[in-house]
Amino acid sequence: MQRYSRITGWGMYVPERRLTNFDLEKMVDTSDKWIVERTGIRERRIIGPGETTRTMAVAASRRALEVAGIEPIDLDLIIAATSSPDHLLPTVATQIQADLGAVGVPAFALVAGCTGFMYGLVVAHQFIASGAYDRVLVIGAETISKAVNWEDRTTCVLFGDGAGAVVVEASQTPGGLMSFELGADGRDWDALMIPAGGVAHPPDMEMIEKKLYTIRMNGRAVFRFATRVMTEASRRVITQAGLTPDDIALLIPHQANLRIIEYAAKKLGFPMDRVMVNIDRYGNTSTASIPIALVEALEQGRIKPGDNVVMVGFGAGLTWGAVVWHWQPVETDTAAILVEDWPIPQRLQSSLRRVRTQAWNARVALSEKATLALIPLYTWTHRLKKKVPRPSLPPIVKKK
Ligand code: ACO
Repeated sequence: MQRYSRITGWGMYVPERRLTNFDLEKMVDTSDKWIVERTGIRERRIIGPGETTRTMAVAASRRALEVAGIEPIDLDLIIAATSSPDHLLPTVATQIQADLGAVGVPAFALVAGCTGFMYGLVVAHQFIASGAYDRVLVIGAETISKAVNWEDRTTCVLFGDGAGAVVVEASQTPGGLMSFELGADGRDWDALMIPAGGVAHPPDMEMIEKKLYTIRMNGRAVFRFATRVMTEASRRVITQAGLTPDDIALLIPHQANLRIIEYAAKKLGFPMDRVMVNIDRYGNTSTASIPIALVEALEQGRIKPGDNVVMVGFGAGLTWGAVVWHWQPVETDTAAILVEDWPIPQRLQSSLRRVRTQAWNARVALSEKATLALIPLYTWTHRLKKKVPRPSLPPIVKKK
């Protein structure tokens, strides 16, 4: 039985705080006119107190799960794409998992620059198509504002914070991911990078003084790369899916620069009314940009059941990724429809996995409680064990 992927839930989160081009005029030598003309950006969102990549990802994921109508514990896998995790260790994916209340569900982070969400979507599809998993949460979340040098006008005007997430579920209805291309050209790894903070240059005074923990970018090189791969990868996935650009209802490109988007659309022969653009309001939110644009396109009614959508991105690495996604109708109770249609062994397997996960969670919770309760007992037995046995004295030999 062929298995397809279906996006059944979607959600996004952007911080309240807006940073406009006019605000930036007061911070660096720039102008609203330059930023709008060269990038199309008018404002971006910046995290507020208490907000991080983790909190934004959790907010977007909760919304996606709500739309899909499933509980976090029903997930089989969580993939969190980000280049700005809360900590270098552990992965932000497990923090998100715990916050969602999905303890036991495997979770990992994926780093592929701004292309991370595209890589995540394709990985999710592979797990579903192989029959390994039925429900995967894919997140793109980024706090690039913390990795930007706010004195460098060539980069600080470009980026913003935000998160988007989708629930991808197994389906028997043909559709979902029809074709994909993932790519990387590591020769230009230094065209967009954070020079220090990793093991190649661990944190030191030089890193602080020269702000080597912030993004360095060869803007022109990235621009050239982006215009080329966006066009070529989109063209290839459309052909691979057996379609033509006319069959594509909407192009959802990575929102890095309006000029890059317009160039790619023109080369592909897409009129701009079939291209999703929201860069003016959010700037470049890196790997969150495509899921945020997808969510807004859905909320604006720009994607309908039966539509073919191209999502295409590029980013640090340098990496790129593109997919053609056939939008299936979203049934009200996908899980029920799915399970009821399955053959008995698969139905049993699904129920078993659910029971196993719940049992595992219950066991973990119980053992945590038990450990707390047993602490005094451990201390007592430890003391007992530590007691040195009384040495047996040699028999007293009376002197005569
Ligand atoms: N305000 C005013 N002037 C500026 C600014 C600014 N914010 N930034 C640069 N300039 C100046 C430059 O100093 C330069 O001046 P000069 O001619 O006197 O030397 C002039 O503007 C032109 O600079 P360019 O770099 O040639 O400008 P360009 O038109 O190439 O635009 C930009 C720069 C917007 C960065 C563009 O190259 C671009 O978008 N590149 C792609 C970047 C990108 O997509 N990055 C994200 C990758 S995804 C990820 O993984 C995070």
